[in-house]
Amino acid sequence: MYVKISMKPLLVAVAVAFGMSLSTGALAVDADAALSLARQNGCLKCHSVDKHKDGPAYRDVAAKYKDKDHAETVKKLINHITSGEKAKFPDGHEEEHKIIKVKDLAQQTNLIEWVLSLPGGVWPEKD
Ligand code: HEC
Repeated sequence: MYVKISMKPLLVAVAVAFGMSLSTGALAVDADAALSLARQNGCLKCHSVDKHKDGPAYRDVAAKYKDKDHAETVKKLINHITSGEKAKFPDGHEEEHKIIKVKDLAQQTNLIEWVLSLPGGVWPEKD
């Protein structure tokens, strides 16, 4: 009897903590990992979070896709950074977009989810 009474709140606490870690684990974006992956792959030569360089500002990419189906967008953008599809540059020329060196889908997904999570962008771009 004593054991039953004392275990119950403990079990509830464990269940709550476990449920919380599961749900944040599924949604959390590791921004530090995303940024360092972008840096290592030279993405930041052509992109920044908030300024247009040769490529669009990442927060503006988030604005471009914010009303689109999220899962489809993630797939499309992973394809964009892994397939070498044609990218249009500001001067009008086209070349194959940079292919990310990392093959790990989880890391690629984290990078794209981070881009899509950035607030404050506008589309069409203004800068
Ligand atoms: C040599 C310059 C250059 C590099 C390096 C580069 N990009 Fe880009 N990126 C571009 C240009 C230019 C566009 C615009 C393409 C277009 O609209 O046709 C673009 C577009 C994008 C987009 C938006 C695609 C869309 O559908 O709107 C994403 C996301 C992106 N790049 C991510 C990355 C990542 C991640 C890396 C590093 C692995 C990277 N880029 C490296 C030039 C570059």
